Amino acid sequence: MKRALVLLGFAAAAAAADPAMIERGKAEETRSCGGCHGVRITRTQRLSRGNWEKELDKMVRWGATIKDREAILEYLVATQGDDRPRPTPEISANGAR
Ligand code: HEC
Repeated sequence: MKRALVLLGFAAAAAAADPAMIERGKAEETRSCGGCHGVRITRTQRLSRGNWEKELDKMVRWGATIKDREAILEYLVATQGDDRPRPTPEISANGAR
């Protein structure tokens, strides 16, 4: 049983690292998240997998339609996970951006 869980863990890690999946997730982010607020609001977050799950649920409750949830979740965890480096702050001279 323990062995099966370890294998499952490897399988999950392999899926997360799949570049095609990450590309699909990025496209899904543009499609399903860019409508209301642009993607900068997602790209400046650093959340755990569980918190990305909750964030996706919340956005769906607020009206987002996600077609490829598996891919967007893997993309968010891989590129905007809580183990990723923090983004450089981007603030324009007048603070309006
Ligand atoms: C139907 C409109 C809508 C869509 C589509 C949408 N969001 Fe949001 N989102 C909002 C609103 C409204 C806020 C709050 C904005 C604010 O506080 O200025 C928000 C805020 C956020 C935040 C900031 C933290 C928070 O929870 O307030 C994140 C992260 C986020 N959205 C992620 C996403 C992701 C990822 C997607 C795509 C799956 C998405 N959003 C799609 C409406 C939407």
